Amino acid sequence: STNIYQLTEEQLAVRDAAREFAQELWAGVIERDEHQKFPTEQVKKMGELGFMGMMVSPEYGGSGLDTVSYVLAMEEISKVDASCSVIMSVNNSLVCWGLEQYGTEEQKQKYLPRLCSGEIIGAFALSEPEAGSDATSQRTTAEDMGDHYLLNGTKNWITNGTTASVYLVIAQTNPELKSRGINVLIVEKDMPGFITGPKENKLGIRGSDTCSLMFTDVKVPKENRIGADGFGFKFAMQVLAGGRIGIASQALGIASGSLELSLKYAKERKAFGVEIAKHQAIQFKLADMATNIDAARLLCLQAAADKDNHGDYAKSGAMAKLFASKVAMDSAVEAVQIHGGYGFVKEYHVERFMRDAKITQIYEGTSEIQKIVISREILK
Ligand code: CAA
Ligand code: FAD
Repeated sequence: STNIYQLTEEQLAVRDAAREFAQELWAGVIERDEHQKFPTEQVKKMGELGFMGMMVSPEYGGSGLDTVSYVLAMEEISKVDASCSVIMSVNNSLVCWGLEQYGTEEQKQKYLPRLCSGEIIGAFALSEPEAGSDATSQRTTAEDMGDHYLLNGTKNWITNGTTASVYLVIAQTNPELKSRGINVLIVEKDMPGFITGPKENKLGIRGSDTCSLMFTDVKVPKENRIGADGFGFKFAMQVLAGGRIGIASQALGIASGSLELSLKYAKERKAFGVEIAKHQAIQFKLADMATNIDAARLLCLQAAADKDNHGDYAKSGAMAKLFASKVAMDSAVEAVQIHGGYGFVKEYHVERFMRDAKITQIYEGTSEIQKIVISREILK
């Protein structure tokens, strides 16, 4: 169809490279899901191919690509394995982007090359047991001790929680300043007083590891703070505005993966003497899926283009995430329906897509939170 975003040769080449790599992810994907096995080898390969630091400048070991290319790659990888793509999304759009955008030269030199190569993985820790959507209600504290901060508290639901080496941790320093008293600190895995909880047993994206983080009097050097004193909450919001484009493309990939498998199956499976694709009820499901997926892709590319062109992408990114996550859920449910009983068992993948799709409506801001972000913008 018409290339309305006039994707460049380079962007198309990135998409094709991601599509080719993604074929490797089919091997073992069911086992990784079933046994909650972290895709260690696959993430290493993603690092080698430049997918772990896609938008980071080559100066710091990144691929130097734009957000549009990132969306295209995220879609392709998510079409096969959304566990791999969430690991990729957090590392790229939250950790690497946040560090490159707001970190000091020293912080960038120290962490970015290894984060981009896949040698180490990053995590982003905002959520707490009692501060999820209500993210300003931080209970984790970073007490200013002069040359260091003393970090205490618990973070919840942290993606890459057990496998990361570097964590961007949000914490309250000056409660009287509310959200303007929050900081973001770079915490390393081996800092004394920092432990991680057990892996959560999840409905979906089971290959990715999610756990809580516990900090007891962790001494974090002052030079590990990103940005000025009190910049932590703004940091989180800015980073999440871009992160939501990544999760929107993950949702898009789950939806288009659901459609691809459904198209193939509908042409193979026969019922009442014809391929089920000849039944109009199935055709209409496929038509709805294809239409919604194209609309979701346009929203993702719009948000990515807004970011690349230094426009305002908080609203377009939230719209992309809100819409694409709904399309992911709807498409995956229909894919299971089209597969009938076969859709209900693991070998056909679509039941996994259905389980994986759900999280895209919850993390990086629930659908309700996206509506808050969008409505605030349009009512301004
Ligand atoms: N950019 C810069 N600053 C922003 C901003 C943005 N996009 N959005 C808000 N801010 C600033 C505000 O201007 C305000 O600062 P000032 O007081 O200096 O003006 C400050 O942040 C507080 O903002 P609000 O008053 O709007 O705060 P609120 O309490 O009403 O909450 C919210 C706003 C949008 C609901 C926010 O709390 C939110 O985004 N919640 C969802 C949290 C979330 O997305 N968590 C995801 C965790 S990471 C994750 O999930 C990763 C993964 O799974 C893979
Ligand atoms: P709550 O905030 O308690 O929300 C419960 C319900 O109430 C939701 O439906 C919500 O939409 C609704 N609600 C809340 N407030 C409002 C309102 N004002 N108006 C209307 N409805 C409202 N966090 C990180 O920091 N880093 C990570 O890497 C990370 N990874 C995650 C991975 C997984 C697998 C999961 C499950 C979560 C992850 N999260 C992460 C946390 C995630 O971002 C939060 O779960 C999410 O923001 C919702 O917070 P909550 O779970 O506390 O739900």
